[in-house]
Amino acid sequence: MIKTISWASGTVVMIDQRALPHEERYITCRKYQEVITAINDMIIRGAPAVGIAAAMGIALGVLNSPGERMKEDFYRICDAFSQTRPTAVNLFWAIDRMKSRSEKEFMSTPHMKADAVKKALTEEALRILEEDIRANRRMGAHGKHLIKDGDTILTHCNAGALATGGYGTALGVIRAAHTEGKKIHVLVDETRPLLQGARLTAWEMKNEGIPATLITDSMAGSFMKRGMVNLVIVGADRIAANGDVANKIGTYSLAVLAGENGIPFYVAAPISTIDCYAKTGDETPIEERKAEEVLEFHGTKIAPEGFNAYNPAFDVTPKQYITAIITEKGIITAPFGKGIKDLA
Ligand code: MRU
Repeated sequence: MIKTISWASGTVVMIDQRALPHEERYITCRKYQEVITAINDMIIRGAPAVGIAAAMGIALGVLNSPGERMKEDFYRICDAFSQTRPTAVNLFWAIDRMKSRSEKEFMSTPHMKADAVKKALTEEALRILEEDIRANRRMGAHGKHLIKDGDTILTHCNAGALATGGYGTALGVIRAAHTEGKKIHVLVDETRPLLQGARLTAWEMKNEGIPATLITDSMAGSFMKRGMVNLVIVGADRIAANGDVANKIGTYSLAVLAGENGIPFYVAAPISTIDCYAKTGDETPIEERKAEEVLEFHGTKIAPEGFNAYNPAFDVTPKQYITAIITEKGIITAPFGKGIKDLA
């Protein structure tokens, strides 16, 4: 299994997802600012992976901070990470985890040595990474029972090892079913405009020998209507307390189409993706990315000069279109509000 992100002797190493699938190259971040750039430039992406990168970036920033202004630096660095990508709540969850750990360390030992705080924060970032991989494996163990031998599964964007600490959420469930010997086939939505499906999910499926075929986003409805899809599984960037799910743009259309065609629509996400402060999905901030991502294809302009484009990176799927949410603590079905309250 590839290592999406790791901590190596005081540096953060990550696979450069912009170069995939053609080139497997790694970048080494020596300063927290480089981790911020990596998140903004989509070198690392996917809700849980962004959270892990932020936690490691914060640990890195504190490691390089002189002891006397470490506390001040810590909060400034946390703030800088919170300005990167607004939709994935895992980012804010990870920053809060780092804050709680730091407050606990400072409070329990007010005169604590800088080295001990640095060690504690590095430890916390690594713990977040390990917990994420464990959660994904548990999601796989719960979710695999929803997949039958012979099923064709449609997925959108990349909710795999590359989007997490490892193994994946939606792709983790698919992996677990495949490992168990179920004969499955995956339809991979290409996921315009940044093609996370075509570039990243296809790459992960190929590497593991999971039978899969690429389709353009606009083909999904027709495939569903023709009886060629048994279930849909996607990841999530933020789940509101009522069960509404924010995920990659295009997810909402898929969910409605699945509902129309009587196809189960599953969301796989760790508890860290649940935002209990958001009552409904309407409270989710949707990231608007630059128009060039839509106007260009691999750096080549595809629209007339001077033309504009909208580029919201995420949409919200109302809870009524969701069959179940697969988490590491179990599977939540309607009414989601109660299920989420019980588990989160
Ligand atoms: O813009 P991205 O590539 O960060 O968007 C990623 C997604 O939308 C994923 O589906 C989501 O983060 C879940 S990843 C386990």
